[in-house]
Formats: sequence, structure tokens, C-alpha cells
Amino acid sequence: MNMKIDIAGVTWNNPVTTASGTFASGREYSEFVNLDRLGAVTTKGVANVPWPGNPTPRIAEVYGGMLNAVGLQNPGVEVFCKRDLPFLRQYNTKIIVNVCGRTVSDYCEVVERLSDEDVDMLEINISCPNVKEGGIAFGQEPKAVEEITHEVKKHAGQPMIMKLSPNVTDISAMAKAAEYGGADALSMINTITGMKIDINRRTFALANKTGGMSGPAVKPVAVRMVYQAAHAVRIPIIGMGGIASAEDALEFLLAGASAVSVGTANFYNPYVTKEVIEGIENYMTKNNIDNIHDIIGAVE
Ligand SMILES: Cc1cc2nc3c(=O)[nH]c(=O)nc-3n(C[C@H](O)[C@H](O)[C@H](O)COP(=O)(O)O)c2cc1C
Repeated sequence: MNMKIDIAGVTWNNPVTTASGTFASGREYSEFVNLDRLGAVTTKGVANVPWPGNPTPRIAEVYGGMLNAVGLQNPGVEVFCKRDLPFLRQYNTKIIVNVCGRTVSDYCEVVERLSDEDVDMLEINISCPNVKEGGIAFGQEPKAVEEITHEVKKHAGQPMIMKLSPNVTDISAMAKAAEYGGADALSMINTITGMKIDINRRTFALANKTGGMSGPAVKPVAVRMVYQAAHAVRIPIIGMGGIASAEDALEFLLAGASAVSVGTANFYNPYVTKEVIEGIENYMTKNNIDNIHDIIGAVE
């Protein structure tokens, strides 16, 4: 059986990775899952300097998932390179470093710092608020997506995945803009903006007022967006949003994703990544499918 896939010239042993911010840098989860089994590990977002994150409370449960407004808390790229990279490098898996920033030059600084490191791919999270440019998120306007992709790409030493925001009217336009700007691959979806009110405290459940919705409830939106993007661009797509089983992952692959990421489900089932990989293998055996490529995009 062939489970190997190629994303922008990087060969993964299977099409399953972890969604950024839900698997830290793999250390905690390595007690539950052999990281060698994963096609890739995608890290939490890394910035040029340490970020403290948002005030608490910053997560809340909702029907079918959760809201988070962690605010991209991270130790900065220097600590990441010294502490987390050597740990991950011990495993036979690809390393995808998720990059965040407040300005275009923040992103450029991080990817440049990572260019000499033993990192396989970069995932650029352009769903962060753009403080410098007047509060519009980079990821919500096609021209801005194209420009940031083009600019960051000049400094990148590894293939670059652009992670798109679902908080847009036309995901195809965003996908095309990233491809036009020089993205090697796309990943989607990031979280969907939501809000929860605590009726007893009569205030917002999150100190940030709004948060990003993730978990099983977002899956139909994510599958639809992956399908639309897959028909708009030629570059590969990594699909995510609510994957909690092999069946969920297969929907994304059939809709056109070349790979999938498992996020929120890790929080309540630390074995889920392994179960998803084994479940895809079982599905292929049961249906006499020898090659994972016969599944990818099979539903047109
Ligand atoms: C607690 C939490 C932290 C996250 N942190 C990041 C992050 O640092 N960078 C990023 O690109 N996405 C981040 N995400 C978004 C996920 O990677 C993923 O796109 C989203 O949660 C949808 O997948 P899921 O429903 O399987 O969780 C985070 C999500 C959660 C729940």
C-alpha cells in the first residue's frame, strides 16, 4: 500500500499531520503517539520574539467544539530553535514550522532565521491581526495575501504553505492570490471567528470577547472550502477543521486535500492522529485501494 505523498517536493510517509497550536512541539504527545508514525508534525506558531498571548480566560467549550483566543503565545524563534527543533529532529517525520507575525517584516525575520535550520516546510499563518497595517487581517483581502506571500517567499529557505483564513466571502479568490504570490501549498481552515456569552457572569466567556471556533462543528465548512480551493488552484492543499476520525480525514482527501491536519481532537483524544492514520489504511484495504493518490480529489 502506498501512503506516501509529495507536498512541494517534500515526501511525507503518510498524509497526516497535526494542526498548529494543538500539538505544541510534540513533546507531551510523544508519550501517547510515536511521532515516527506521523507524516509531519506542525508546530505551534513561532514569532521573531516571545509573545505573552492574550489575557485569560482564553478558551471556552461550545457545542461541537471550542473557542480559543490564546493570542499566539510562543517563546520566540530563538528558544524554539534551541529547545524544540532538536527534540523533533530525533523522529522520522517531517517538521513544519508554523510562523506568525504582526508585520510583514516580522514574518520575513522568522523565515530567514529558520532558513539554515533543519526544518522541512514553513506554514505561514496569515490569519493574525495586522497591527501595523491598520487592523485588517492579512488573510482577508486577496491583494494583501498575494503581497505577503510574495514578500515572505523571498526570504524563505524551505517550501512555504500559506494558511488561509475561513473568515472570508470567497475562499477561491484567497487561494488564487496565495498561489499567484508564489505559495508552494495551502492549508485551510484556520478557526472561524465566534463569540460566547457567560449568562451568569453577564459578560463574554473569553477576555478577548471573540475567539476562533474549531472542532467537529466546523468540518462541513472546512470541507466545502477545501473543495472550492482545490478547484481554483494547482498547488496542493492541506485540509483541516474538525477532523476527529479517519472518516473525517477521508472526506477532506476525497474533496481534494493532498494531506490533512488533526487539531482540537488531540485535546480530548491524544491517540487520535494514530487512529486516523490506521483508519485510512483500513479503509484502503477494505476498498482495495493500493495508492492514496486514488483517493485524493476523487470526488469532483
Ligand atoms: C488552542 C488552539 C491554538 C491554535 N494555534 C494556532 C497557531 O498557533 N497557528 C495556526 O496557524 N493555527 C492555530 N490554531 C488553528 C488550528 O491549527 C486549526 O487550523 C483549527 O483549529 C481547525 O482545526 P481543528 O478543528 O481540527 O482544531 C489553533 C487552534 C486551537 C484550538
